[in-house]
Amino acid sequence: MNELVEIKQPIKTHLEEFEERFRSMLQSDMKLLNTITQYLYRNKGKQMRPMFVYFSAKMCGNVTETTHTAAVLIETLHTATLIHDDVVDDSNKRRGFFSINALWKNKIAVLLGDYLLSKGLLLSLDNDEFELLKIISNATKEMSEGEILQLEKARKLDVEEDVYFEIIRKKTASLIASCCQAGAFSAAKDKETIEKMRLFGEQVGIAFQIKDDLIDFDNNTKSGKPKGIDIKEKKLTLPLIYLLRNSSKLKKFKLLSLIRLKSSDPKTVKYIIDEVNNSNGIKYATEKMLEYQQKAIDILHTFPESETRDSLEKLVIFTTSRNK
Ligand code: IPE
Ligand code: IPE
Ligand code: MG
Ligand code: MG
Repeated sequence: MNELVEIKQPIKTHLEEFEERFRSMLQSDMKLLNTITQYLYRNKGKQMRPMFVYFSAKMCGNVTETTHTAAVLIETLHTATLIHDDVVDDSNKRRGFFSINALWKNKIAVLLGDYLLSKGLLLSLDNDEFELLKIISNATKEMSEGEILQLEKARKLDVEEDVYFEIIRKKTASLIASCCQAGAFSAAKDKETIEKMRLFGEQVGIAFQIKDDLIDFDNNTKSGKPKGIDIKEKKLTLPLIYLLRNSSKLKKFKLLSLIRLKSSDPKTVKYIIDEVNNSNGIKYATEKMLEYQQKAIDILHTFPESETRDSLEKLVIFTTSRNK
């Protein structure tokens, strides 16, 4: 993750300010809440979303008070959705440690997610940031729709590629789009530029989730999350969609039956991972991911060359080359 440290360098002081605000945001008078949020703070993630917020602001002007609020708000919502996501996915690992539901059980995890969500609402209201609230509430709504659509499709074992793209655009790209939109909004008022940055974030977000789904099949990296969990949860992601589409009728029937009836058996998960790795599924998904990466970079290149533009480009490339 040394690349990430390097990319962070030009916004180091902003990120320090962010850390401080995020930490105080997580503080509570309730002992149990405080214990859990301290655990969250200690095991923080890559914080790529705040990075997108700050760099997008710098692309369009200067970092403002609104930029800091946006960064804290988005990381808080991101944290809340991960906590809920681990309940939904029945996942016991996050960022290399036990997930909140693994340690404190589902009931606490659901309520903690709600708590963080409401803290986010209050933060924007306390600062009279109504436009920001609008941008981010819209992303949160889309994320929920994406996660629900995914559950519905997992139950039906739907293998359509366009549905996959709709799911990932909603559940992941919408929030990264809102990082870039909110960052731009915090520094500039020109609607066209703000929309361009939103679109940039959306393309990055799609590439981001394809990468996340590829990592789930990668036996050689330590992501800090359980491997093969997407298969276990019957999520048909792009490499597997490709394999299914290019298998004989009989093979497809066999694969789908295994997923339908035995996806919680580690042997099934291993078999499917091996089948995907032996097909061109990984290559296909990687190509698609790079297509979206290129779309994002093309949008970036409509801005004049600058240090910040370079940083954003590096962050985009990190998105698709990371291993966690
Ligand atoms: C994980 O996001 C959730 C997805 C949208 C795939 P990150 O990979 O950014 O998670 P952290 O915050 O760094 O742990
Ligand atoms: C993204 O999907 C989750 C959210 C948008 C909250 P995943 O379920 O693949 O994310 P991870 O792999 O658990 O981080
Ligand atoms: Mg998950
Ligand atoms: Mg995942």
